[in-house]
Amino acid sequence: MSERQGSGEVQREWRECADRDDVVLLDGFHALKHALRFGAEVLAVVADEPGAVRELAAGLAPDVEPEVARLVRRAPLKELLPRAHPTGVAALAVRPGREAGRAALARTPRPAPIVLLDHPRNLGNVGAVVRLAAGFGATGVVTRGDLDPWHPNVVRAGAGLHYATTVDRMELEELPAGPVYALDPEGEDIRALTLPDDALLAFGSERHGISPELRARADHLVSLPMRPQVSSYNLATSVAMTLFHWGGPAAR
Ligand SMILES: C[S@@+](CC[C@H](N)C(=O)[O-])C[C@H]1O[C@@H](n2cnc3c(N)ncnc32)[C@H](O)[C@@H]1O
Repeated sequence: MSERQGSGEVQREWRECADRDDVVLLDGFHALKHALRFGAEVLAVVADEPGAVRELAAGLAPDVEPEVARLVRRAPLKELLPRAHPTGVAALAVRPGREAGRAALARTPRPAPIVLLDHPRNLGNVGAVVRLAAGFGATGVVTRGDLDPWHPNVVRAGAGLHYATTVDRMELEELPAGPVYALDPEGEDIRALTLPDDALLAFGSERHGISPELRARADHLVSLPMRPQVSSYNLATSVAMTLFHWGGPAAR
């Protein structure tokens, strides 16, 4: 998109881009900021008030301000999106090809665990897990099941941090090598364990927990301490505690 385009042309180009299969919506400033920081190919940025978005960038993320200023175009968000983000900006970026991601997940020695979500249902939970994985420097997040981990609501909940880690969906037989630590309230207390860097840390679905086939594949069943009569923690919260126990870059 060029700086001299009128709003009609910007809208037309946005719609053409949005129709592509390899493009994801970055809804709001924080998703755009992280995508730019972690090397996403951003194709289009639109805002009701480009000047306000440039000011936001200058105040909150001066490192990406020049890129935001170069890319942002004026267009009415309500014409392009079902719901405009409170920060008044949206962008489209290329979804990375699977080959590089799969190679990163398979690389050995693995410097940090992979988080495996077994048939998750809640898009917000999956986004929160991507954000945790990015923050702790996990190798990636792999999901099993129908949910697309690159769904726009997952990317929104992940604040664009899909670009800071690897995110993919896999079948059981495709999982990368490594010991599987399945998190389950019936398991061995995590406080007695050291989680290795090459672990696959597996978490069950919000409704049904760890599936029988993943339980059969697990090398260890691990529990998080919990008072009697409390049934379980939230999925993303469980991932947070487990990654914290593993260590992450801050502990190195
Ligand atoms: C909301 S819980 C699933 C609850 C489900 N009704 C069940 O029967 O397990 C989602 C996932 O978080 C993890 N989790 C939650 N609480 C846990 C705990 N105390 N210890 C270990 N993992 C836990 C497990 O991986 C679990 O499958």
